[in-house]
Amino acid sequence: DAVYRAGVLGRRPVVPAGPDELAERARRVMSPEAWAYVAGGAGAERTVAANRAAFDRWSIVPRMGRDVSSRDLSVELLGRRLPAPVLVAPVGAAGLVARDADVLIGGGAADVGLPYVISTQGSSPMEETAAAMGDAPRWYQLYWSTDDALVDSFVRRAEGIGADAVVVTLDTTLLGWRPRDLDLGSLPFARGIGIAQFTSDPRFLEVVRDVVQEKGGAGRGGAEVTLGALRSLLSIARETPGATLDNLRSPYPRAAVETFLRIYSKPSLTWDDIATLPGRTRLPVLVKGVLHPDDARLALEAGVAGIVVSNHGGRQVDGAIASLDALPDVAAAVGGRVPVLLDGGVRTGADVAKALALGADAILLGRPHVYGLALEGRAGVRTVLENLVAELDLTLGLSGLTSVCELRERGAEVLRRV
Ligand code: FNR
Repeated sequence: DAVYRAGVLGRRPVVPAGPDELAERARRVMSPEAWAYVAGGAGAERTVAANRAAFDRWSIVPRMGRDVSSRDLSVELLGRRLPAPVLVAPVGAAGLVARDADVLIGGGAADVGLPYVISTQGSSPMEETAAAMGDAPRWYQLYWSTDDALVDSFVRRAEGIGADAVVVTLDTTLLGWRPRDLDLGSLPFARGIGIAQFTSDPRFLEVVRDVVQEKGGAGRGGAEVTLGALRSLLSIARETPGATLDNLRSPYPRAAVETFLRIYSKPSLTWDDIATLPGRTRLPVLVKGVLHPDDARLALEAGVAGIVVSNHGGRQVDGAIASLDALPDVAAAVGGRVPVLLDGGVRTGADVAKALALGADAILLGRPHVYGLALEGRAGVRTVLENLVAELDLTLGLSGLTSVCELRERGAEVLRRV
């Protein structure tokens, strides 16, 4: 209501309410490399486009003459009540967009009480992000390392910061083919961006120390490089445009980043690995990146507490099915046994309504919150989330519905395929 009223009263916001204008204005303030990394997708970006087009194939059929004067957007998810069925998707390397990006995103999410899913490739140690979030809900997104002790260390830390869940991302055991980044020669990790979870981790430090020692650093007096020194070297690299691994003078940051590249993700990951995780943490385990209903069944057999239907925002397999198109079959396979979440292409409140009517319990928002971050930091993230929720509220009411529950139950009645 406040959002709508401010608009009607004519205050001109820094963060545009329309999704295309939001992206366009963010583009103008972002560096070319940040824009390429955030906006870009895999290959010819057909799946990026498909994620959006899928929403256009469904229309809402509003019903009239119902009392919609009071509405309730709240939902219960994994035992916690959320103000709306919206989560803030994990984004790695957002440090390309703003300094302390994760702290700002976490803060913006906390301002509206929506969970931020903190990435393994976050730009601040998860403890710092969590500290900026007060008591607000946070989840942790895990990339499964080739180093099993590191997996356990990350999960312990997630428990320590009060995460409500661990989300294992399945679709990025290899990094997708991303022409915009390739053409700019600008993968953020080359500057040490997105590796803060690693450089702040005790197990990772052990691994790096071994590598440094193997390189014979001890003989030249460098083997005892402290982790603090390592971190400051990486932060110099981060703040130095044009710095790459190749022209960093010290071998240690180079060794650390190379180690990161070697262990950050496990291409041999299978359902058997996933099945071990529920026994290794007291947190509910979700998987992200499910598109096939048979994979949803395998995930249930592995003991997951929830499934995120996602194609990583079209950043991994170009030509992959749009996530909204994959949703109905996955939801049918899951049959209400665990929550089903969706991300990919959600840009408006109407999109949220369509996803929920087609079987999602909640959605995650990806790029738009990063655009809010680019434009106005923490306040920008908050505004993007507030706008989405405000539009969802109006969409529900004007469609003759008074709650998310009702939308979930009577979805078929208000949606038509066109
Ligand atoms: C991502 N995504 C992502 N997912 C994940 O599990 N871990 C991560 O570290 C990242 N990093 C990341 C960085 C950036 C810049 C983007 C845009 C996306 C994928 C993200 O969580 C989500 O699945 C998609 O962004 C959703 O699609 P939309 O909303 O961007 O269309």
